[in-house]
Amino acid sequence: MNQKALLDLAKKHGTPLFIVDHAELRKNYATFKKHFPRVQAYYAVKVNSDPAIVQTFYELGGSFDVASIQEFRTVYQFIKKLPAKARQDFIWDKVIYANPIKPIETLHELDPYRPLVTYDNVEEVKKIAKHAPHAGLCLRLQVPNTGSMVELSSKFGALPGEAVDLIECGHDHGLVVEGLSFHVGSQCTNPENYVQSLHLCAGIFNEAKLRGFDLKLLDIGGGFPAAYDSSVPKFATLAKKINHEIDRLFPKSIEILAEPGRFLVASAGTAVSKIIGKANRNGKQSYYIDDGVYHTFSGVIFDHCTYHLQSFKRGTPQICAVFGPTCDALDTISLAEQLPDLEIGEYLYSENIGAYSAASSTHFNGFPPAKVVHVNR
Ligand SMILES: Cc1ncc(COP(=O)(O)O)c(C=O)c1O
Repeated sequence: MNQKALLDLAKKHGTPLFIVDHAELRKNYATFKKHFPRVQAYYAVKVNSDPAIVQTFYELGGSFDVASIQEFRTVYQFIKKLPAKARQDFIWDKVIYANPIKPIETLHELDPYRPLVTYDNVEEVKKIAKHAPHAGLCLRLQVPNTGSMVELSSKFGALPGEAVDLIECGHDHGLVVEGLSFHVGSQCTNPENYVQSLHLCAGIFNEAKLRGFDLKLLDIGGGFPAAYDSSVPKFATLAKKINHEIDRLFPKSIEILAEPGRFLVASAGTAVSKIIGKANRNGKQSYYIDDGVYHTFSGVIFDHCTYHLQSFKRGTPQICAVFGPTCDALDTISLAEQLPDLEIGEYLYSENIGAYSAASSTHFNGFPPAKVVHVNR
């Protein structure tokens, strides 16, 4: 969005403001589909579960990766008026519950919908068999997350060596294992993570077949990087490499799914904030703004992400610190921003902040999350 439009919105709605551009959501979705024609895209709702965002992907014909019962209910709102059969088909064809660990209460609520759910251990198989016996299973594997900004493999995923035993375990408990899934870590800029994961999966597909289990689907997860800076590999190049390996290793009859999150929403979010205080700390200019790491900039903490602040005013840039509004020193957005000399009351903005940001905003210290404004819906 251009600076004038951002400023107009800030003046109209006040700050802190979190602006979601739905034209950008549609563009990102189209780019994903164009470069991955064989892949069904399940939007990872956790990245930003705002119902308006879910609605835009729903209207584009998207599928959904949900990882809590609340996220499932958010998606369900869009299909609840469909006839029973169409609703059931939607859940089976277009929803995956991709959290390998599920509370028992969640399994009870999910069971009537016969969803596809991921798992990665024997205890989970027992729980699913008892509390959601109508679910289909997808085995989540531990795969290399080398170099990814957010690492996931220390928390989730069966070891490849255990995979076929876990498939058999599902079968022994009366469940059907439909396929495999993995996640290379979020903001994955190392294509080798995908290549190695696909090889691991191809080996497991073959071994499973030899033991009598025919897997039908492969879920290549998320990790597709947002173009935060020029060091991020081109999406088209990454997609070409992944597609080449998929086509080489998996027959056309295998369904390929993906769970993109960050790639679809990062560039659609812009935060606009206002300078509420200004001080010189140890010789460094320091700005205090009305949004921070307990709010839209929560990705600094939870997502290991850095966001650049930009000024609407021109001037010679100088190194400065930018802090959030709360009475806590952890609320530090950056100790090394480049901004011109600014006054209290002036505005700043930060682009590419749509993913894992407003989603983990809190009410800490009495400061509410930024107001959300949707444009180009
Ligand atoms: C199971 C699962 N799928 C998809 C995603 C979305 O990943 P990304 O935003 O990197 O595309 C995540 C993120 O943590 C995840 O845990």
